[in-house]
Amino acid sequence: MAVKKIVVLASGGGSNLQSLIDAAENGAINARIAAVISDRRGAFALERAKSAGIPSYEHDRFDKARFAVRDDFDRAVADSIDAHAPDLIVLAGYLSILPRETVTRYRVINIHPSLLPKFGGMGFYGRKVHEAVIAAGETESGATVHYVDEGVDTGGIIVQERVPVMPGDTAETLAARVLETEHNLIVTAVKMLL
Ligand code: GAR
Repeated sequence: MAVKKIVVLASGGGSNLQSLIDAAENGAINARIAAVISDRRGAFALERAKSAGIPSYEHDRFDKARFAVRDDFDRAVADSIDAHAPDLIVLAGYLSILPRETVTRYRVINIHPSLLPKFGGMGFYGRKVHEAVIAAGETESGATVHYVDEGVDTGGIIVQERVPVMPGDTAETLAARVLETEHNLIVTAVKMLL
């Protein structure tokens, strides 16, 4: 079977991206990470791409000199995606909303650090998710990989895994426990889809 091409979009540290890079390198997934795109200047995910010899694109959404209007940013991201004609797009800690054209044209999945539909939607990302889980007194949380549609965290769920919330957890300790689970879950999801 032909090796599939994946484009990964990431805004931050890129530890989930690293998990996919490693899985592609060691043959756990029959795929190649064709490119990494970030919407944040200096995202460490871009360094991970460079270290792995993967083409990377920094399209800083907040760079008003480059992107006077949102459409300009969306076009730059779309052009970088199109250049690689991916079989799958993975959002791995990506904080911008993709335009309708991209989510209808490509198969796009996202990893989210909660048991969706709980603690998902606009404003629930990264640390904020874990703070809300703890504030709500939940005894379990988890991670979800889902399809991306035109909404925020609303697409069909592909796979989920539960993670306990421990007494005394802070957003940081819970985030670290969930992230560890995410690293396996993202690879499992990609394997299922390819
Ligand atoms: C992950 O926990 C991911 O689930 C979350 O950002 C983190 C990125 O970590 N994504 C969201 O909150 C999206 N709503 P990473 O950069 O180390 O992969």
